[in-house]
Amino acid sequence: MLSTRVRELEMSGIRKMFDAAPPDVVNLGLGEPDFDPPEEVREALFQAVRQGLNKYGPSAGIAPLREAIARKYARHDPTTTLENVLVTVGGSEGLAVVALSMYNPGDEVLVPNPGFVLYGPHARLAGARPVPYPLTKENSFLPDLDGLEKLITPRTKAIVVNSPSNPTGAVIPRKMVDQICALANAHDLAVISDEAYDEIVYTTEPFTSFWGRADKVVVVNSFSKTFAMTGWRLGYLLAPRAFVAEANKIHYHLVACPATPPQIAALKGLEVSAPATQAMTREFRARRDIIVKGLRAIPGMSIVSPKGAFYAFPAIDWGDRSDVEVAQGLLRKGLLLTPGTSFGSLGEGHLRLSFATSRDKIQRALEILRAYADDRS
Ligand SMILES: Cc1ncc(COP(=O)(O)O)c(C=O)c1O
Repeated sequence: MLSTRVRELEMSGIRKMFDAAPPDVVNLGLGEPDFDPPEEVREALFQAVRQGLNKYGPSAGIAPLREAIARKYARHDPTTTLENVLVTVGGSEGLAVVALSMYNPGDEVLVPNPGFVLYGPHARLAGARPVPYPLTKENSFLPDLDGLEKLITPRTKAIVVNSPSNPTGAVIPRKMVDQICALANAHDLAVISDEAYDEIVYTTEPFTSFWGRADKVVVVNSFSKTFAMTGWRLGYLLAPRAFVAEANKIHYHLVACPATPPQIAALKGLEVSAPATQAMTREFRARRDIIVKGLRAIPGMSIVSPKGAFYAFPAIDWGDRSDVEVAQGLLRKGLLLTPGTSFGSLGEGHLRLSFATSRDKIQRALEILRAYADDRS
């Protein structure tokens, strides 16, 4: 009964570890803020439900939300309007819609390795071939532009970028954003920029969106992290108007429309919740400092300090054990984290720890890691 397509699809390594974990474990595995959505965002959701806004909405999302999103991006490209915006069921659906709307069978798509778990499988579901481009700690997990160019063939359709990155925390500086855009333009490639963590940045240079910076750009974003509303499943994509109009057909046939109350809530969030997101980001930065300092003090661990998002991606040098064996060993000691290879082959020798959890749990995680490292030496 099963299609070849589904049989060839692997379950994400993150979910596998999570499903195997006992309930009392210290969980640095899953990538979601431990905060509640801002008060005003929650209130807007309750009100929407009470006012009876519980029906299907427009397939592309409600107009006021699309307009508010367009306003956010007008500072990058003043011609941005609601017609550039499609509201999706999380960034996840946005990424799937982009893949199904852009790739043809036989196309090649450059994807980061290590990188977020959906890019490769989505390319394959659309019949395209993901071609991983390396991100190494020696290069602070930023793309090497010469290496990237060497991977481009006549079949290459697009390059997927993710800044701030899950799992590495790297943030692509403005100068490199423009270099990537120039490379894409020179080879007539689309840039697909996953900016789900655009508001969670620790650098002094402000975050640079790819929107408006290359000839062909699609930005995918999400409200999951910005307003700590992962469970409400709301995100969006920005693209040229003609692309949005066509992609809306795929979106409609997959999900009909995004849920209405979370859209009302996200609209409220865009209007008034920047201070709540900034306060959450300040706390993440303090935890980033705690975890980076703690990891650097553990024998055999080294880390490039994350510049955004809420993941530490340390390298481990503990002899002959693979990242999966280390993660399994740590799980037996009561710590859940994600092996680096869940994000691609070059994640080998790394672990991903989410610091979107309390300082207390981070301290306990560091203690478990230290005891594990001491046992090994
Ligand atoms: C880089 C990145 N992009 C997209 C997503 C999708 O998030 P959501 O579907 O909740 O919007 C995630 C979630 O972890 C992510 O880390």
